[in-house]
Amino acid sequence: MGLFKRKKAAENSERVLPKHIAFIMDGNGRWAKRRGLPRKFGHREGAKTFKKITRYCKDIGIKNVSFYAFSTENWKRPKDEVDAIIELFREYIIDVRNYIGEEVRVLFLGDKSIFDDDLRKKMVDLENDTKDYNRMTMLLAINYGGRDDIVHAAKTLAQRVRDGKLLPGDITEEMFQPELYTKDVPDVDLLIRPSGEERISNFLLWQSAYAEFYFTNVLWPDFDSKELDKAIDEFNHRQRRFGGV
Ligand code: FPP
Repeated sequence: MGLFKRKKAAENSERVLPKHIAFIMDGNGRWAKRRGLPRKFGHREGAKTFKKITRYCKDIGIKNVSFYAFSTENWKRPKDEVDAIIELFREYIIDVRNYIGEEVRVLFLGDKSIFDDDLRKKMVDLENDTKDYNRMTMLLAINYGGRDDIVHAAKTLAQRVRDGKLLPGDITEEMFQPELYTKDVPDVDLLIRPSGEERISNFLLWQSAYAEFYFTNVLWPDFDSKELDKAIDEFNHRQRRFGGV
């Protein structure tokens, strides 16, 4: 183990690592605007940050990490910006195995049916090819909405009722968990939103019921491992009571 990794391992042994960190990758547009560039340049930089942060999470031992790449509401943006984000996404999922290695399971959160056959197939193949890896799970939310996630799970349970396999009165919270896009992934412990906005914006609503929120003014393209360490340190100073005392 090199010096850097040894130092990191020592630091990590003293702090509690969140089991699941979720990132809202916000501020790409403002990053570009400040430089007089079109918004899509901000997304390109944001995608580089996504790559670096994924790798860093894996190196320090985070087991589950989610990123909000594109919401069900983002289709309202100008077509050239939407196209640029989808193209970036296409590029990154082709390249994904090169930068996360062979040990990361990939899950896509959201309704895939909106994408063209080629992209959808790449997404499904990647999920299937990586399904047995367990060093880390990387969840990428694309065409995702938290309310849509819950509605999607409710429809599956409703179908079970209709098929006579379940009584409405027997539905429990635990039955929702495996039907959500996040499947067997534990709830979010730490939700990070850069760029100064302090909202959840329809991300992982069910899964963030007891998450700690961390906000910073840094824009997503400038977010780095030091910023993430700060967020994890802050997480270590929070008292989590989960409704108890
Ligand atoms: C929010 O910033 C960001 C998005 C809606 C897109 C995020 C997409 C990427 C980082 C690239 C594609 C993803 C992958 C995984 C390769 P904003 O545009 O709302 O920023 P603003 O609030 O400053 O305008």
